[in-house]
Amino acid sequence: MNWRVALLGVGLMGLAMVQRLAALGVSVIAYNRTEAKLAPLRQQQIPVTTNAAEAVEKADVVILMLSDSEAIGQVILNPPLPLHNKTVIQMGTISPTESQQLATQIQAVGGDYLEAPVLGSIPEAKNGTLLVMVGATPSQFDQWLPLLRCFGENPILVGEVGKAAALKLALNQMIAGLTATFSLSLAYLQHQGVDIDTFMTILRQSALYAPTFDKKLNRLCHRDFANPNFPTKHLLKDIRLFLSSCENLPLDTTILQAIETVVQKTVEAGEGDSDYSAIINTISSLP
Ligand SMILES: NC(=O)c1ccc[n+]([C@@H]2O[C@H](COP(=O)([O-])OP(=O)(O)OC[C@H]3O[C@@H](n4cnc5c(N)ncnc54)[C@H](OP(=O)(O)O)[C@@H]3O)[C@@H](O)[C@H]2O)c1
Repeated sequence: MNWRVALLGVGLMGLAMVQRLAALGVSVIAYNRTEAKLAPLRQQQIPVTTNAAEAVEKADVVILMLSDSEAIGQVILNPPLPLHNKTVIQMGTISPTESQQLATQIQAVGGDYLEAPVLGSIPEAKNGTLLVMVGATPSQFDQWLPLLRCFGENPILVGEVGKAAALKLALNQMIAGLTATFSLSLAYLQHQGVDIDTFMTILRQSALYAPTFDKKLNRLCHRDFANPNFPTKHLLKDIRLFLSSCENLPLDTTILQAIETVVQKTVEAGEGDSDYSAIINTISSLP
């Protein structure tokens, strides 16, 4: 437990992850570009900074929880962070290729790199029940497993760098698909005047049921998209990462392209920062 951790990116997930580390007694310093988001950590006397280099200098291991690879590039290269002899663990959602390129950049300046994207959201980050997928060598995995266990009980080594990023994208395109198809059925039945409780009673007993349906039911029925755990703009990012990652593969992605259009329209309607269940508003207005 005697690591010195710098966590770069105090967004929705980064905030919960820093708080989790601090609660477990791990030495952590948090960096964020926008100072206002550091206020809750400052109140808890957790060290914070708006200077990424300062955070890195005070750490042995650097966790990235930034929105995308563009943000990572800006934080890491502009100006270049002192990453020599540091380990970087990338935990946001980026593509396999982006992760492999990042590994090359970090290794070129004498740093070590592994990826550990996560499934789960703010509640799971707060209580340490994220599903942590690791792209690393077996020895990197063994070395950092105790730290990764702070975020999820059972981190899994998927393979080399890029493999965990691919697995994470495969899961997130299912978030898009399941939510879109459930929203369409729900809106259809609302327009048909069929009781939603009856629909759910049958669905829950069927092989079609997925727990995410009940998690999102209230938001979808009441069109309540405030206080997101996972915003629509990031779902759109992940759909696009998946589609671009498919470009040289023999896959027909027509289904996901259609869902991309729905999610894009939702963002264009001003719901980019709302919970992604807002896609139901694009599928149908309330009857
Ligand atoms: N939310 C979830 O449920 C969830 C779950 C699993 C994985 N993820 C993934 O984890 C990552 C973070 O997600 P999140 O929900 O925490 O996102 P978020 O709330 O949007 O936070 C994004 C973070 O990136 C920073 N950032 C963006 N552009 C930047 C730039 N150019 N320079 C410096 N900092 C920049 C933001 O800083 P500012 O505050 O200054 O804007 C903020 O700290 C994403 O890749 C997301 O897809 C999210």
